[in-house]
Amino acid sequence: MKHLRAAITAVGGFVPDEVLSNEMLERMVDTSDEWITTRTGIKERRILRGDGKGVTNMAVPAVQSLLKKRGIAADEIEVIIFCTITPDIQVASAAAKLADLIGAKNAFGFDLQAACSGYLFGLNTGAQFIESGRYKKVLVVGGDKMSAIVNYSERTTCVLFGDGAAAVLLEPNEEDFGIVDAVLKVDGGGREHLRISGGGSMWPASKETVDRSMHYVFQEGQAVFKFAVTRMADVSEEILKRNGLTGEDVTWLVPHQANKRIIDATAHRMGLAPEKVMINIHRYGNTTNATIPLCLWDWESQLKKGDNLILAAFGGGFTWGSMYLKWAYDPV
Ligand code: UT7
Repeated sequence: MKHLRAAITAVGGFVPDEVLSNEMLERMVDTSDEWITTRTGIKERRILRGDGKGVTNMAVPAVQSLLKKRGIAADEIEVIIFCTITPDIQVASAAAKLADLIGAKNAFGFDLQAACSGYLFGLNTGAQFIESGRYKKVLVVGGDKMSAIVNYSERTTCVLFGDGAAAVLLEPNEEDFGIVDAVLKVDGGGREHLRISGGGSMWPASKETVDRSMHYVFQEGQAVFKFAVTRMADVSEEILKRNGLTGEDVTWLVPHQANKRIIDATAHRMGLAPEKVMINIHRYGNTTNATIPLCLWDWESQLKKGDNLILAAFGGGFTWGSMYLKWAYDPV
């Protein structure tokens, strides 16, 4: 039997209309456009407003646009992997709700949580379903409503994050296009530096957890930065080496968008020119599980069959990784 690779065959994305700019944040906390821009590269981010709205409100339009583009019906989807740290509710899963809302009646699905590396881990998981030969249409969704878990009176975190969702469809490919390799890592020794402590089994929601702001994202920025800037570059270099590639062979770096300085350091270590790096952090901020698929969505019209893409991420846990994939289709 011919070796099957899992190839991305369609991309869809969605960001809310409402913009939260650096200038608006200047009026909310003690910060400045200059500080945010030079330290992170972010100029604005999108925010999902409205009572009762959750991440699936963004995932549904993202997936519907993908299905339309690919020309398939929702009931053809067999697996839904929803990578998120902000499911609409704790139980049932965002994947289950999404399947219901889009009419994916023949799918099974689950949520996957690996903080900002979730999308890479999800793509790799999705690829296994395809490579096994048992499934032919796997949807990998990445989305987060970060505004739901950000403390907008805390300047060290509220300037960083935004809301968004995007998805790709994975299908079998026999021509050697698709996901070639992945290097994925976890080091729980870093878990204290980036976390949400409240609402889990250790600290169930209570008056105390609310009073102590334990349901918000907590990050020790510098500690995370120190690891992110070296680890993301390490795995990106490793994946090049073990696939016999140099920076010259890479068409695009698709990095998690947490900080432009981390992205620049990774690109530099890989020997990549800046024009080979997908960067949209200035428009969306850090959308956690949506950063990588939103990049693919923004750049889809420029991607050509055979392009070599390196995806890379670093996030809470710590989790991190890189992935090498050969793009499978020309712009439509
Ligand atoms: O996506 C998941 C993984 N996350 C990451 O990869 C994020 C990694 N970390 C970072 O990107 C950076 O550490 C941050 C952007 C979060 C912070 O940048 P930094 O250069 O590490 O700043 P810092 O935390 O060392 O703070 C420097 C100064 C401090 O003031 P003092 O102590 O020097 O007086 C902060 O209080 O900047 C201050 N500061 C701010 N000033 C204006 C912190 N936040 C702000 C702010 N506006 N929003």
